Amino acid sequence: MKRVIAIDGPAGAGKSTVAKIVAERLGCTYIDTGAMYRGVAWKTLRQSQEATDEAILRAVHDIDVRLSCTESGTHVTVDGTDVTAEIRTPEVTHIVSRVAALGAVREKMVELQRTMAAEGAVVMDGRDIGTNVLQNADVKVFLTASVEERARRRYDEMRAKGYAVDLEELKQEIASRDKQDSEREISPLRQADDAVLLDTTTLSIEEVAARIMELCE
Ligand code: DC
Repeated sequence: MKRVIAIDGPAGAGKSTVAKIVAERLGCTYIDTGAMYRGVAWKTLRQSQEATDEAILRAVHDIDVRLSCTESGTHVTVDGTDVTAEIRTPEVTHIVSRVAALGAVREKMVELQRTMAAEGAVVMDGRDIGTNVLQNADVKVFLTASVEERARRRYDEMRAKGYAVDLEELKQEIASRDKQDSEREISPLRQADDAVLLDTTTLSIEEVAARIMELCE
């Protein structure tokens, strides 16, 4: 069985849901790198009125972001505060792509991600895992789905959490994040040359997980 799995793709493609299942089946640690960038965004908003580059850099320079994988999912702490729920708010989502575009933020997060991966078998999801963070991963998957389907999934997820979201607005926000994430200068969202492309638009979670398990065997 292969033991270092990189899963990349745009927002709402199902990466974290599937990565969690695959990690559990393989007995690997699941690392949600998007949660780390969200942690930096959360701290920026907590410290500053506006998310300027200076505010983001101030937030990241001494940040202590930690992920812990438990039965109930990934828990995230920033400087000792549990921010697991707070990093999923629309306010954080709105600025996170800008936060993740800054070189100083990426350098710090990538270093942490590589340190975590060095500790053992991992399934890591994000935007630049196959192209940058874990270039030697045993299996690389690029998950995608139509923007309509991704917006619909986010809509269901946010509604279930009690947020009054609008489907059309979500679609625009996802499209705008995709654009920012794939057009940024440093490590943009891109399918690695050796990654397997999986379009999940018409697939169930179980079908996607099963396909990735096949690739790992
Ligand atoms: O997967 P997510 O939606 O929680 O990620 C939040 C943002 O973080 C996403 O818009 C882009 C950024 N990100 C990144 O630039 N690189 C990663 N490896 C993971 C996420």
